[in-house]
Amino acid sequence: MRAAARALAGLVAAAGACTALAQQPAAAPPAFAPPNMTQKGVASLAANCAACHGTQGRAVAGSAVPGLAGRAAAETVATMTQFKEGKRPATVMHQIAKGYSEAEIAAIAEYFARQR
Ligand code: HEC
Repeated sequence: MRAAARALAGLVAAAGACTALAQQPAAAPPAFAPPNMTQKGVASLAANCAACHGTQGRAVAGSAVPGLAGRAAAETVATMTQFKEGKRPATVMHQIAKGYSEAEIAAIAEYFARQR
C-alpha cells in the first residue's frame, strides 16, 4: 500500500515536471562563432575540401573528383551557388555547399584561384 502511494506520488511529481517543461520558453537558437575570415581562417575553411579535392585543391592523379587549384574564383563561386541552390546535379556537394555563407564561398574560391 505504501509502495503504491509512493509510486502514485512519483507519477504526480513526474506529471508536474512535464507541465513545467512544457511551459519553458523555447530554447535559444545555438550561437555560432563568427566566421574566421583571416588568411589562416580561410585556409582552414579550404582545408575542409582537401579530403576529396586534394591538398590545396590539387587533386591526386587518377582522382574522380576534380581539383580546384587555379580555377577562376568566379567559376567556383558560380558552381558552389548552383550546388547550394540545388540547380546543379550532385551527390555530396549540395549538402557541403549549404554549409558555407556567400562570403565564405567567395573567400574559399579566391583561395583556390591563388593555388597553382
Ligand atoms: C566528401 C567529398 C567532398 C568534399 C569534402 C568537397 N567536395 Fe566538392 N565535389 C565532390 C564531388 C563528389 C563532386 C562532384 C559533384 C557531386 O557528386 O557532388 C564535387 C564537385 C565540386 C565542384 C565542381 C567541380 C566541377 O568541375 O564540376 C566544386 C567547385 C567543388 N566541388 C567545390 C568544393 C569546395 C569549395 C569544397 C570545400 C568547401 C568541397 N568541394 C568539398 C566531393 C567533395
